[in-house]
Amino acid sequence: VAFSLGAQAAEEFPAKDKTITIVVPFAAGGPTDRVARDLAEALRKPLGATVVVDNTAGAGSSIGAARVARAAPDGYTILLNHIAMSTMPALYRKLAFSVPNDFEYLGMINDVPMTLIGRPTLPANNYKELVTWINQNKGKINLGNAGLGAASHLCGLMFQSALQVDMTAVPYKGTAPAITDLIGGQIDLLCDQTTNTTPQIEGKKVKAFAVTTPKRLTTPALKDLPTLAESGLKDFNVSIWHGLYAPKGTPAAVVTKINEALKVALKDPEFIKKQEGLGAVVITDKRVEPAEHKKFVQAEIDKWGAVIKAAGQYAD
Ligand code: MLT
Repeated sequence: VAFSLGAQAAEEFPAKDKTITIVVPFAAGGPTDRVARDLAEALRKPLGATVVVDNTAGAGSSIGAARVARAAPDGYTILLNHIAMSTMPALYRKLAFSVPNDFEYLGMINDVPMTLIGRPTLPANNYKELVTWINQNKGKINLGNAGLGAASHLCGLMFQSALQVDMTAVPYKGTAPAITDLIGGQIDLLCDQTTNTTPQIEGKKVKAFAVTTPKRLTTPALKDLPTLAESGLKDFNVSIWHGLYAPKGTPAAVVTKINEALKVALKDPEFIKKQEGLGAVVITDKRVEPAEHKKFVQAEIDKWGAVIKAAGQYAD
């Protein structure tokens, strides 16, 4: 009976009276939350269901990811996370779940560039002056991040090892609280995704020094920012991909339904406009397919695992 009920529920997914929860493993108001809320909006119609966003923050997204890994595999609790899925395995010796095996892959969403930004009172007005200031203030620099494994942590790690300068990491539950402290001058630097930093850069609330992608960005507020690569950090290339995940064991019929709805959402002009206005690039390649999504995550685990080990970084 249980099996047939399961099969029937999968066929009928989503049930009219049930809500689909997208778990965001960072604080509300940050870049991951931004993508989730925009996507939830675009998923409602194709899914024909109520879609809500719920934040379970902490430990670089591992707390939120663990919540979904152990949720009922019925498609009503799914995870939206980013590159942290591929960095946590190298950073956390003990995780309450394993990547890639403890999840079903629902498809990828977008690629988001990062910006290196500073507090408004920082006495440097371009990347060159920033490097001078960094070298004059070794041992006294506070670099915000959203916890070990976060995109901001990974970018900060890459930046410090490229400059061969150690900074004090100041972890937050997301880069929304981190950027608030940066604007207030409590921390000096932050490497954060354009989905969060674009409005602050436009509003001149922070100093913007560079972008982390190989090519400059076209977003009006960001187009004059040099890349770190052209500023001397050869090959510096960090772009943050986001995907959707369900607990292992979620029926294939449910995975397919959510993936089909995601493909419609990614073509939604409203969604694309919102994302592109914040410098994000909506996925149009095969990484939207569950099998390719899983393959990509595994390749990224191998890639970033090597970088993290080379930098001698472990969380605990
Ligand atoms: C990160 O730095 O990993 C995330 O962008 C943090 C967030 O979404 O708040």
